[in-house]
Amino acid sequence: MHVITAFGVGRVMRSKDEKYSEGDIVLNAFFPVAEYCVVPSSVLIRKIDPEAGIRLPEYLSCLGVPGFAAWVGIEVLGEAKPGSNAFISAAAGGVGMVAGQLAKLKGCRVIGSTGSDAKVRLLKEEFGYDDAFNYNKETDFDAALSKYFPNGIDIYLENVGGKMLEAVLNHVNPHARIPVCGMISQYNQIWTEREGVRNLLNIVGKEARMEGFLVSSYLDRFADFTVEMEDYLKQGKISSKIKIYEGIQSFVESLGSLFSSSKFGKVVIEVNKPR
Ligand SMILES: NC(=O)c1ccc[n+]([C@@H]2O[C@H](COP(=O)([O-])OP(=O)(O)OC[C@H]3O[C@@H](n4cnc5c(N)ncnc54)[C@H](OP(=O)(O)O)[C@@H]3O)[C@@H](O)[C@H]2O)c1
Repeated sequence: MHVITAFGVGRVMRSKDEKYSEGDIVLNAFFPVAEYCVVPSSVLIRKIDPEAGIRLPEYLSCLGVPGFAAWVGIEVLGEAKPGSNAFISAAAGGVGMVAGQLAKLKGCRVIGSTGSDAKVRLLKEEFGYDDAFNYNKETDFDAALSKYFPNGIDIYLENVGGKMLEAVLNHVNPHARIPVCGMISQYNQIWTEREGVRNLLNIVGKEARMEGFLVSSYLDRFADFTVEMEDYLKQGKISSKIKIYEGIQSFVESLGSLFSSSKFGKVVIEVNKPR
């Protein structure tokens, strides 16, 4: 039997390892989705200092997988620099909201796409996006990108795939970077029914670099990322929205919410209320 695992924060109840005591808060990349579990102390990433001034769910958001994916995408593969024109899809999701703020901190002009007008407002008013559009309303993506990127796209952080990727490839500048974080619009289809992208040829003429990545391949950079992100959080330069579902019974509902526009930011499950 395989147990579903998730990046999580947990409280130590008992430990045979003297480095850990009852009550310690720990971070682990592979907690079973369960109310209680036994894990070898060697797999724990680190202890969390609850007095550090960072709210615990943030270790799963800005300081967790989405924040790290945003950092790898924008800073490592996207090579964000002042003046770059950056486009981020699924911009109000866990990855997108952090990616936009990181790109702004690096001096980019940042535009996002998302699925509702409320999320467009959130991106502009809370997350500092220069502009954003609702892809359910501006359905001609090519026209939308002509409007929002009169000077072309230098970085596209790809989260959705399909028609959005095709439209982006018509607007990339020479040597554009396309870090491919995900393609959520294509996940629930068998591969023969997924949308094809007809203009991949543009990658040649524009000498664009499109590169898929998994955060698990960048763990040697996790400590660098943590130092930088904790600094941004403490200085109030980056923030995130977190949707917390209560109780392990909410797992299926919370997972389903990723595939609709129903929630803002990072989805977290609080499996047990602290007593
Ligand atoms: N490579 C890695 O290591 C890595 C790590 C983490 C995440 N990821 C990937 O990165 C992407 C973003 O992750 P996340 O954590 O930010 O996700 P998230 O918080 O779960 O956001 C998902 C958002 O995607 C949008 N969406 C859902 N279905 C869509 C569709 N058919 N077309 C367009 N947008 C759709 C929805 O927002 P709207 O309201 O905007 O539609 C939804 O809220 C995902 O593809 C995920 O699989 C990759």
